Amino acid sequence: MNDAADMDGQVALVTGATGGIGRATARRLGEFGAHVVVTGRSRERGEETVRDIERAGGSAQFFRADFAAMATVRALADEFRDRYDRLDVLVNNAACSADARRLTADGHELTLAVNHLAPYLLTHDLLDVLVETPDARIVNTSSTVHRRGGVDLADLRLESNYDALAAYARSKLANLLFTTELAARLDDIPVNAVHPGFVPGSGLYRDGSLPVRLFTALAARLPVVGTSVAEAADGLVRLAVASDTTGTYFEGREPAHPDPRVHDARLREHLWNVSAALVGIDPDWP
Ligand SMILES: NC(=O)c1ccc[n+]([C@@H]2O[C@H](COP(=O)([O-])OP(=O)(O)OC[C@H]3O[C@@H](n4cnc5c(N)ncnc54)[C@H](OP(=O)(O)O)[C@@H]3O)[C@@H](O)[C@H]2O)c1
Repeated sequence: MNDAADMDGQVALVTGATGGIGRATARRLGEFGAHVVVTGRSRERGEETVRDIERAGGSAQFFRADFAAMATVRALADEFRDRYDRLDVLVNNAACSADARRLTADGHELTLAVNHLAPYLLTHDLLDVLVETPDARIVNTSSTVHRRGGVDLADLRLESNYDALAAYARSKLANLLFTTELAARLDDIPVNAVHPGFVPGSGLYRDGSLPVRLFTALAARLPVVGTSVAEAADGLVRLAVASDTTGTYFEGREPAHPDPRVHDARLREHLWNVSAALVGIDPDWP
């Protein structure tokens, strides 16, 4: 559990806060006094998160956004900027794990689009608000599974031999490559990434293959396996509240060593440039 913190007057944006670890994180930031903007596709579950935060004495607003479409990500950033003139913390948490290969309407592989391209673009589009806000922070949600990911920049659409875990692991490695590269490019805003822990009871495995669904359903019933959403939120909350480090990968609340490929500056730059091209922005940012 995080110690209490004072976030009165601050604005936090938590993506993927209609359930799971994102909802638990949003709740906690609301309890600390932040006004929390929560996003997701489900209006019903988004409004439930808002009510939860309000019941705990906080304030929140839900924005509906499907991260499979880059135009929607841009519209979310515009809507945010219309309503708010500060952003103290951006928590890029939304993610999915697609059981079968799907291409989005933009032509991107779905898991890469939702888990990597969307936070890449959202961060780009909100960066000026973050820069204008004193002591702003960025927290990205990765996973230990990043170590099993491969980034073949010639096959970003995963044309051959789709494997759900490989697609998810690739997106989580991309989260870390992005975190490290952005931290290297940004002087004033700490950018860190967290593996929250294995949470078999979250919604992430809902669309997994049958063996994955069976394994996680079993694991969710065994108290010794994995962790709860509330505990998993700890690492995100800690970095969302304040950060004295940047470009660091955490497992829970502890700094950890990421896969060595994360230190490959050429790979990071390559992915950065390809991502910019895929979402249609100038790679020369910030
Ligand atoms: N659970 C674990 O064991 C585990 C382990 C390591 C890392 N993580 C990471 O922790 C983060 C949270 O995962 P979780 O376990 O809390 O999963 P979750 O319960 O499935 O929550 C995922 C959130 O992302 C949103 N989302 C999914 N697809 C979306 C889309 N196309 N557009 C917009 N939002 C979308 C969902 O909202 P809607 O359905 O309303 O869109 C939901 O709010 C993820 O980044 C995940 O990779 C989880």
